[in-house]
Amino acid sequence: MSILVCGGAGYIGSHMVAHLLENNKDVVVLDNLQKGHKEALLGGKFYLGDLNDSEILDKVFSENSIEAVIDFAAYSLVGESMIDPLKYFQNNVGSTINLLKTMNKHKVKNIVFSSTAATYGEPEAVPINENDRTFPTNPYGESKLTVEKILKWCDLAYGIKYTALRYFNAAGAHISGKIGEDHNPESHLIPIILQVALGKREKIMIFGNDYPTKDGTCIRDYVHVSDLASAHLLALERLKKTGKSKIYNLGNGTGFSVKEVVDVAKKVTGVDIKVEKAPRRQGDPAILIASSLKAMEELNWNPKYNSLETIIDTAWRWHKNHKNGYSK
Ligand code: UFG
Repeated sequence: MSILVCGGAGYIGSHMVAHLLENNKDVVVLDNLQKGHKEALLGGKFYLGDLNDSEILDKVFSENSIEAVIDFAAYSLVGESMIDPLKYFQNNVGSTINLLKTMNKHKVKNIVFSSTAATYGEPEAVPINENDRTFPTNPYGESKLTVEKILKWCDLAYGIKYTALRYFNAAGAHISGKIGEDHNPESHLIPIILQVALGKREKIMIFGNDYPTKDGTCIRDYVHVSDLASAHLLALERLKKTGKSKIYNLGNGTGFSVKEVVDVAKKVTGVDIKVEKAPRRQGDPAILIASSLKAMEELNWNPKYNSLETIIDTAWRWHKNHKNGYSK
């Protein structure tokens, strides 16, 4: 029996594949390589294809004995989603409907779905609990929340059981140094800071210094990508055991401001990273911090790399050895 990882060549997906292989699981990967990298795959049986293509999905499910699906395949740029919402609904919602239809046809009943803190929008209070109000402030978050709702009805109608994992800020790289974060263009804070440390960029622009936070910059909860991967496998095991659909937050429960992240990165890299003030970025909430108590209690999730210094250190090790990402 195999686990199908959709979007397995992407940043979080590739760390998931690595974690499954480390746990001796049979892995099948489906990725269109639009954002993902073939080099990020440390193993598994690979299919090149898109979730919007029912034929390739049918082929994957027919040729393999799939016991469960972990779905990472999605567009995930908040800013881009504000400019082209239909692209996000078409791809993130449409392709998941296609996947669910195929799962139902082939009687595959378990899915772990990659959701996001962006489902909450501007939080009413922090730390954020799973029962708090969901009111996305961008189409990316709305597309993920829509899929969560679709999953609820698919459970009722077809008996497809799901776990939706709402990640906060995924960061870091695999401890082996073999795989890491490579987006093009890069928009995430930590890789951009590390590109400055490497001399690939002159400075980091800090988006907004007038937020209602201790130093005026946005606060986020950074969680190591391998800890996210371990939560997915725990969620899948629990899902198979209990047959109960659930939603969990995944974060470390500690918030760091953009300035604090820069300071930790300076310490880790030993480089004096140049910063410059810039206007706020549209759609950025001031503070996002997770309560992950539910995941810790019910999944026995115990994040291993829960200090920001370690998270940045693992990322730094990868970036130093992959100055141009996966490309040669
Ligand atoms: N930031 C800067 N300068 C940069 C890049 C980022 O100041 O060059 C700031 C952002 O304004 C934000 C923080 O650093 O305050 C973190 O930004 P990221 O782009 O790294 O991450 P986000 O918090 O915007 O986004 C993450 C995920 C999204 C998810 C979102 C949930 O990447 O997929 O959390 O809110 F939707």
